[in-house]
Amino acid sequence: MKAYEIRQFGVDELVLADRDVPKPDTDEVLVRLYAASINYRDLMVVKGTYNPRMKFPTVPFSDGAGEVIEVGEGVTEWKPGDRVMPIVAQHWYDGSLTEAIRRTSLGSGPHWDGTLREYATFGAASLVRIPDHLSYEEAATLPCAAITAWHALVEAGRLKAGETVLTLGTGGVSVFAVQLAKMSGAKVISTSSSSDKIAKLRELGADEAINYRDVPEWDKAVMELTGGTGVDHVIEVGGAGTLPRSVRAVRFGGHIGMIGALSGAGSFDPVAVFMKNVRVSGIYIGSKRIFEEMNRAVEENKMRPVIDRVFPFAEARDALKYMESGSHFGKIVVRISE
Ligand SMILES: NC(=O)c1ccc[n+]([C@@H]2O[C@H](COP(=O)([O-])OP(=O)(O)OC[C@H]3O[C@@H](n4cnc5c(N)ncnc54)[C@H](OP(=O)(O)O)[C@@H]3O)[C@@H](O)[C@H]2O)c1
Repeated sequence: MKAYEIRQFGVDELVLADRDVPKPDTDEVLVRLYAASINYRDLMVVKGTYNPRMKFPTVPFSDGAGEVIEVGEGVTEWKPGDRVMPIVAQHWYDGSLTEAIRRTSLGSGPHWDGTLREYATFGAASLVRIPDHLSYEEAATLPCAAITAWHALVEAGRLKAGETVLTLGTGGVSVFAVQLAKMSGAKVISTSSSSDKIAKLRELGADEAINYRDVPEWDKAVMELTGGTGVDHVIEVGGAGTLPRSVRAVRFGGHIGMIGALSGAGSFDPVAVFMKNVRVSGIYIGSKRIFEEMNRAVEENKMRPVIDRVFPFAEARDALKYMESGSHFGKIVVRISE
């Protein structure tokens, strides 16, 4: 079988290698992967900025979808032909995250090879069923970005219909946040650097959109749009460079889901957080239980992920470069096989 391997850091250094098809252990399942999707983390992993001490060779990417081919003797919950997605943190079934659980995240080292390969074995308990209305390519977008958005909004944020959600930019997490927030009956204010992407945000249901290039003081615009109150929830993917404005744009007692660090360095004054009683939650993807709860909502609402572009398996490096360009809206997928 074919598998991409990181043998040294750099997108152009990714090697398309031959490996044996793995055999499932007693409690494992052999999955033929049809599609994988890219998260910003995967780009960092491949470039060596996520964990510069990562061991080689490692198969990158944490998200994928495929079909069960064979099950180990002790597996009763899956059978050949079932459509499945692996959970990213393979041992996070429910409850609190721990360091030991976080270390089981796919695509983070040789012990936890990722999804950019034709076949993989996973623990039977580390898979979830794909909602029937989704293709493999659509399903491959869910395991990291969608759950992260759901975790921030619904699990940690306890989002209620009628509340207002602020999303930053139009990457994978933020576009899912727009869709999931609208699905939950919320009002959405989004930001983007591009007027084309703002048009797409509106098509997707965003009630208001602000171009943060044209309006660098976008927090003030958010306050005006909310009648001086601020939003109930912020999907914070920018990190230090956007956090001060996010704190200004959230209401007293509102919630900030701390997810990413796209904006690089910056300084942050914590005073406004406690003076406004803001609740800040650190969000790391989500457990299997959170994934399955989200899938029920996705299935009930027949929600379809937004895929910007699908790259053939042979062009996985180009897919990573495309993500690096930042021109995508939503998710980038690699089709592993038909
Ligand atoms: N904590 C977790 O579990 C978790 C899970 C997934 C992702 N993340 C993190 O969340 C972040 C987003 O991930 P992703 O996969 O959605 O990334 P992505 O798809 O690469 O998002 C890229 C988009 O983000 C927007 N952006 C970039 N810099 C920005 C800034 N300074 N202010 C506002 N928007 C900005 C741009 O949108 P426009 O072109 O529209 O401006 C850009 O196209 C990353 O830092 C990632 O590591 C964390």
